[in-house]
Amino acid sequence: MTQSLTLRRPDDWHLHLRDGAMLQGVLPESARHFARAIIMPNLVPPVVTAADAAAYRDRILAALPEGAGFTPLMTLYLTEETDPEDLAAAHASGLITAVKLYPAGATTNSASGVRDFDKVRGVLEKMAEIGCPLCVHGEVTDPEIDIFDREAVFIDRVLDPVRRATPGLRVVMEHLTTADGVAYVQAHDRDLAATITTHHLIINRNHILVGGIKPHYYCLPVAKRENHRLALVGAATGGDARFFLGTDSAPHTDANKQSACGCAGCFTATNTMSCLAEVFEREGALDRLEGFASLHGPAFYRLPPNEERITLVKGAPVHYPAKILTGAGPVTLFDPGFPLHWRVAE
Ligand code: NCD
Ligand code: ZN
Repeated sequence: MTQSLTLRRPDDWHLHLRDGAMLQGVLPESARHFARAIIMPNLVPPVVTAADAAAYRDRILAALPEGAGFTPLMTLYLTEETDPEDLAAAHASGLITAVKLYPAGATTNSASGVRDFDKVRGVLEKMAEIGCPLCVHGEVTDPEIDIFDREAVFIDRVLDPVRRATPGLRVVMEHLTTADGVAYVQAHDRDLAATITTHHLIINRNHILVGGIKPHYYCLPVAKRENHRLALVGAATGGDARFFLGTDSAPHTDANKQSACGCAGCFTATNTMSCLAEVFEREGALDRLEGFASLHGPAFYRLPPNEERITLVKGAPVHYPAKILTGAGPVTLFDPGFPLHWRVAE
């Protein structure tokens, strides 16, 4: 018996598309299933001004396959030099949808991030005033803090004080990886939401380290213990509108992943909807997939949900390519480690 599930076309509320040959290679993978995506600004150099965002948006639109109905929702990379007026004008014109906060040194290409939060207070106040969401990479970078504790410590040391100091600031905790993060979001009714990635619903830290080191499961924030993964699955499949999909699909070439100092990032753009359907089905929550992938995100971002529908069909296991070949080099696709029975009907 064929089973099928129709939902509004999903959006990806956290996506890395890169630039140049990599952008050209990976963009069709996202545009195939997703209508919109929040585009991360961590290029080298980063997207810091409205002019940078406009130019990057044009490069993305130029790289889209013929006929693809995909809208990139642009972000600015917050630095200690960000000009609140440039930001506010870019938000008012619709050029940018959000601003991204990277603590300096937290992850790939985050050297220009924020060191001293007092220096961005004025920008955050302006964002609260105009209702522009702040997407937060929630990890402290203090070398004394164990990498597996960096999200929980960030909540106490940075996120909670910043939110208290800036009433009305709308915050998205990006790529949540801990039960602590889930609990923090659940405890606050206003102005706070979180994205959850595909891979953090599927892997825990054993996947990275047991039976040999698996560079393609290494990402930031790093996957945590199983109890944290279970908390994320509970949050994603539980129907709570504060949690929605942000794949954090983050392509790196195999050469850059499979190295003595491999880059962080899992590439999930291609098979995310198949992976999610499997995860939600196991939880008996297929009816909540549409909320997570297609409804909660637009509601937080105050955008209409997509009118178009996609249909997921269940059948024999789907075979995805192991790698996507790009002009920058091959990019290995995330392997969930179990068969995928659901596919998006073309
Ligand atoms: C991202 C990247 O490669 O740009 N990597 C990752 O592991 N998620 C950066 C990020 O989102 O932290
Ligand atoms: Zn990311």
